[in-house]
This record gives sequence, C-alpha cells and structure tokens, in this order.
Amino acid sequence: MLQETGVASEVIEVRQLSKRFGPVAAVADLSFTVTRGEIVGLLGPNGAGKTTTLHLLLGLLTPTRGHIRILGLEMPRHRRAILQRVNFSSAYVSLPTNLTVWENLYVFARLYGLRRPRPKITALLELFELADAASSLTGALSSGQLTRLHLCKAFLNDPEVLFLDEPTASLDPDIAARVRAILRQVQRERSVTMLYTSHNMHEVERLCHRVLFLARGRLVAQGTPQEVLARTRAASLEELFITLARDGSLHDVAARPEET
Ligand SMILES: Nc1ncnc2c1ncn2[C@@H]1O[C@H](COP(=O)(O)OP(=O)(O)O)[C@@H](O)[C@H]1O
Ligand SMILES: [Mg+2]
Repeated sequence: MLQETGVASEVIEVRQLSKRFGPVAAVADLSFTVTRGEIVGLLGPNGAGKTTTLHLLLGLLTPTRGHIRILGLEMPRHRRAILQRVNFSSAYVSLPTNLTVWENLYVFARLYGLRRPRPKITALLELFELADAASSLTGALSSGQLTRLHLCKAFLNDPEVLFLDEPTASLDPDIAARVRAILRQVQRERSVTMLYTSHNMHEVERLCHRVLFLARGRLVAQGTPQEVLARTRAASLEELFITLARDGSLHDVAARPEET
C-alpha cells in the first residue's frame, strides 16, 4: 500500500558518485537506487568503498563528483533536513564508555530533539532486549549488548532510512540471529529502508532483498541474491565475495551474456 503513491518511491538515489582520497578512488562512478522498505546489502572486500559510500550518503564526506538524493532531497544541500529522517549504526563508532546505557540514549534523544525521550528509550531497550542493562556502564557491555545499544540509538528518531555499517560484526551467531530478526521486524512494521554492510554472506542471503557488490570503488554486480548468482554463475555469495577479494573484479563473469 505504501508503495502505491504513484510518486517516486526511490528513497536513495545515487548517480555517478565518486570520491577520491588523493590517488585512491575510494568510490568510482557509482550509481544505484534503493526503494522504500527495501533492505539492500552493500557488499565487497575490505577497502571496496562501502564505508566511504555510507559516509557520503550521510553527508560526512563531500563527493568528488556525482549526485545523491535521499528521500527526494539533495545531499549535501539538504543535509540537516535529511539527517532528521535517517540514522546510522556502525560497529566502528564508539559511545562514551563512562556513561550508562540509559544516559547515552538520553543524550542522543536530546540531540535528536525528542519531546518525550523516556518512553521512547524504554520501548527501544525492550525491543532490543537491553532493559536489564539500562544502568550498566557502556564500557562494561559485551559486544553483543554494545551492538544492540548502537541499534537503539539508531532508532531513537524513528528513522525512515537506516544506514548500517557491519552492525552484526563481532556478534555470536545467536545474538546476530536475534538482531536480524529485530531488523526484519522493524522493516516490516515501519517500512524502514536499510542499506547495510556485512561480511557475513550467509546473513546477507537471509536478510537482504537486494545486494550491491563493490570492488575497488566500483559496482560490479547488483540484483537479488538469486539474480546476482545467476548472472555471475557463482555458486554462492560467499564464492563471489572470495573471487572479488582475490581478483578485485568480476571481469570474466561480468563479460558473459546475462541470463534472464
Ligand atoms: N579518510 C581517508 N583517507 C584516505 N583514504 C581513505 C580514507 N577513507 C577511506 N580511504 C581509502 O578508501 C578505500 C575505501 O575504503 P572504505 O570505504 O573504508 O572501504 P570498506 O568500508 O569497503 O572496507 C580504501 O582504499 C581506504 O584506504
Ligand atoms: Mg568499512
């Protein structure tokens, strides 16, 4: 129903996006779109340009070239308006360790301008099964708890778009499965659009509607996991990932005619 508005349902639009760091083309001529309510995996070996892409989409970096629209608004021109409606969670950003879980969430809730932070924080702690740790120091949390705290933070402003940089890195399989279940639930209930990076191809196959494979900053394959496998003739996303990591491209397979 939500998609039947007739207007563009593209929530993320990236056109010919490039970012150079000196001689390094971290992102090179990248174009893709993400539709409302989709969970899209942004995949590729270390150094492929995934984090740089997310940072460009968040307006944390300025593109060398290209165009970004989020929720129909141009980034970075409408950065402030966009950031009110999106959020970000990363395994690589740390929260103050000397604050409790509750205090950290309260600080962010105030930063986001929430009118009534308490009920919101309570509900999110319940959702992410973290209520018992509300008064624990953030520095004393296990990595699984810390990941879930980051996700609580990311949902404080009821984001329409969520950027997740390896959210389940360093989680044991049980907790990772629970986090996936929560993400799926939230996506279903609120039609949140998610762009998500992970090195766990098994997880990606279970969670993502579509995948974008990057290698050396370039988009080398995209589609549903099944489409990508058919097109590249890889047996699994894991195999495709390893090929990319070793060869840095899909030159051979990409040159084959596409199967429809
Ligand atoms: N701030 C930076 N300065 C210089 N080079 C960078 C910077 N950030 C990323 N890079 C380089 O850009 C490339 C892509 O990095 P990154 O986006 O972090 O990849 P990924 O997240 O896929 O591992 C790498 O070669 C990395 O070394
Ligand atoms: Mg990264």
